[in-house]
Amino acid sequence: MSARKPYVGGNWKMNLNGSQAVDLASKLADGFTAGDQAQATVFPAFPYLEKVGQALTAKNSAIQLGAQDFYHQPNGAFTGEVSLDMLKDVGASVVLIGHSERRHVIGENDILINEKVLASLEAGMEVILCIGEKIEQREANQTDAINTGQLGYGLAGVSGEQMAKVTIAYEPVWAIGTGKTATSQDAQNTHQAVRRALAFLYNDGVANATRIQYGGSCKPTNAAELFAQADIDGGLIGGAALKPEDFLAILQTAAESAGVPA
Ligand code: PGA
Repeated sequence: MSARKPYVGGNWKMNLNGSQAVDLASKLADGFTAGDQAQATVFPAFPYLEKVGQALTAKNSAIQLGAQDFYHQPNGAFTGEVSLDMLKDVGASVVLIGHSERRHVIGENDILINEKVLASLEAGMEVILCIGEKIEQREANQTDAINTGQLGYGLAGVSGEQMAKVTIAYEPVWAIGTGKTATSQDAQNTHQAVRRALAFLYNDGVANATRIQYGGSCKPTNAAELFAQADIDGGLIGGAALKPEDFLAILQTAAESAGVPA
C-alpha cells in the first residue's frame, strides 16, 4: 500500500470569467470534504486568483490556491510578468511549472523551467513539475528518455529535502485535451520509469515519497482505473476541472484510492 497522499490539481487554463471562477470555487469548496484523504489545488487564471482564494477561504476549504505560471526574478523590468511574491501576496501557495502548453505553445525550455523550480522552492512554494512526451517521440520509443530527461533538467540543483515540496505531473502531450487517454498500463509504465529515475537522482526514500500525477484527458470515467495503478498518485485535470460535478467526482475517486493496496 502506498503511503503517498493522492493529489489532484485542477488546471483551469485560460478559461472562465471572474464570476464563473468564483462560482466554481465555491461549489468545489462545498463539495470537497475529503481533505484528510486527498490533497487538492485549483489553478485559476491570474486576474481571478485573489477572488478564488477568498471564495475558498470563506468556506474554510482544504482546497489550495495555485498559479499556472510566474516569472522567477523577484522584481524589475519584466513587462507582463508576475513574481512569486505577488502570487504569495494574493494567497497562492502552489505553482505549476513546465506544463506542455508552456513548453510547446509558449516556448519555455528546460533551463527556464529549472530556474522556475529553484526560485519557487527558494520562495517556499509547492511545485507541480509537468513532464511529457509528444506523439512522435512516443512512436520513436523515446517516451522514457524524454520524460527522464525533462525530469533531470527540471530538478537540477533541487535537494532531497526540497523534494518534499515537489510533485511530478506526467502528461503525455498527445493526451492533453484530446479525449485520448494513455491506457492505465501505459501510464503506469511511464510512472514507474519516472519513479526509478527519481531513485537514481536521489534515493529510494525520495522516490517512494514523491507523488506522480497523471494528466491528459483524465475524467470521472477513467480516474478510478488510473489512480488504482501502483505509481499513479492522482491527476492533473484540465477539461474535467471546469465542471464542478466532474472535478468533485475525480477528487472523491482520489480520496477512495488512498486506502487501495497497490
Ligand atoms: P486535460 O488537460 O485534462 O484537458 O487533458 C490536462 C492538463 O493540461 O493539465
